[in-house]
Amino acid sequence: MAQYDVIVIGAGPGGYVAAIRCAQLGLKTACVEGRETLGGTCLNVGCIPSKALLHATHQLHEAEHNFATMGLKGKSPSVDWPTMQEYKQSVVDGNTKGIEFLFKKNKIDWLKGWGSIPEAGKVKVGDEVHEAKNIIVASGSVPSSLPGLTIDNEAGVIVDSTGALSLPKIPKKMIVVGAGVIGLEMGSVYARLGAEVTVVEFLDTITPGMDGEVQKNLQKMLKKQGMNFILGAAVQGAEATKTKAKLTYKLKKDDSEHTLDADVVLVATGRRAFTDGLGLKELGVEMTERGVVKTDAHWATSVKGVYAIGDAVAGPMLAHKAEDEGMAVAEVIAGKAGHVNYDVIPGVIYTHPEVASVGTTEEQLKEEGRAYKVGKFSFMGNARAKAVFSGDGFVKLIVDKETDRVLGAHIIGPAAGDLIHEVCVTMEYGGSAEDLALTCHAHPTFSEAVREAALACGDGPIHM
Ligand code: NAI
Repeated sequence: MAQYDVIVIGAGPGGYVAAIRCAQLGLKTACVEGRETLGGTCLNVGCIPSKALLHATHQLHEAEHNFATMGLKGKSPSVDWPTMQEYKQSVVDGNTKGIEFLFKKNKIDWLKGWGSIPEAGKVKVGDEVHEAKNIIVASGSVPSSLPGLTIDNEAGVIVDSTGALSLPKIPKKMIVVGAGVIGLEMGSVYARLGAEVTVVEFLDTITPGMDGEVQKNLQKMLKKQGMNFILGAAVQGAEATKTKAKLTYKLKKDDSEHTLDADVVLVATGRRAFTDGLGLKELGVEMTERGVVKTDAHWATSVKGVYAIGDAVAGPMLAHKAEDEGMAVAEVIAGKAGHVNYDVIPGVIYTHPEVASVGTTEEQLKEEGRAYKVGKFSFMGNARAKAVFSGDGFVKLIVDKETDRVLGAHIIGPAAGDLIHEVCVTMEYGGSAEDLALTCHAHPTFSEAVREAALACGDGPIHM
């Protein structure tokens, strides 16, 4: 029986980062993972493969729509779906092997198999029991479906996000249930590949919780790209044959029932914590009814020596939130300060254009009754964006009316997922719009739009 300072259960972005930081801080560390490769949902069937497909199909979109304008003439490329799948898999393999390399480099033992905690201080993997002074549960989440929709990724007709990444062929007609992050990203992929995509969403807006102006603009832009939206529609269920599905939904405004046919239905209505089979209940770890592990501010559960992070605990189900918690919990275990600033966690949707947000929305501030200013700048005034057909969209900075302190930002436009971070850093330092506006930004860059939005909070932007 091996003895460790820390055993991490799960090697997704929360778990593998926690393991690496624990090892870096001098703790003897092992990580349990039952998948054949490290990296969890994110690297294997989430963030990374979807980004490969988004990249490939964006190139196709560029070839079809913008190449001729730039003097690049000739036939647009045709799609070889199996090769695109191989490319996607090679991206995944490169990343998962990278984590394996980092485990070796940091002398972290990979305990292969599914782990459970028979008692505090012990982790069982297969027939072996290992001892650990500390255990970190980083078991992640799984897609959650709706009643009346039976997911069968093998059959490939009613699928979840995992199935949608590896469809046997490109569907002619696709229904996406849920206009959240997964629905819009994967819907974009298949729309660009020529599928007729219809998104059916329960709420009256897409991307719930996001800035209202961003929601409206993104929907308009995706519509222009050929995606259809049915909002305010409660999905009742779907029937599948071997090759087709019929979806039934009710419109909330008049309770009328409708049906839609498609080759594939993607169910993207959220995820749930994956904490089954770990023995947490038996151990006495407090959880919610939905299996979310309860922790204190330092990720300690109700059982001494057992911690939990990532999608298995409360908060946004985001890889980077899990990573931050992974680093912080390692520090706590090593006797250091470990901290996560939950007020500054960016969210990104990798459609084209990208959408990124951090901090508060106008809607939230209105509800709070807090006085604020908005500085907005359109990418139409950004030379770099115009040069690359990306003038649609804007940067919207929200600052405190009295102090000018940055409270949030909402960006829709080119590289929004990267631009958001200069706002994150400003917020971490308690900075103001003036701080951003006084910082020299290289020309010509997309980042200049962030500076212009900051200038718009003061004496005004230059290029608008
Ligand atoms: P989500 O919570 O983002 O969106 C689910 C959508 O489904 C919501 O708009 C909801 O109103 C709708 N919905 C729920 N029930 C419905 C019904 N009966 N009929 C019609 N619509 C219904 O969930 P999603 O997209 O599945 O993503 C899961 C998690 O994974 C999220 O927490 C997300 O943040 C995370 N994720 C993040 C990514 C990123 O950061 N780029 C990429 C992929 C996933």
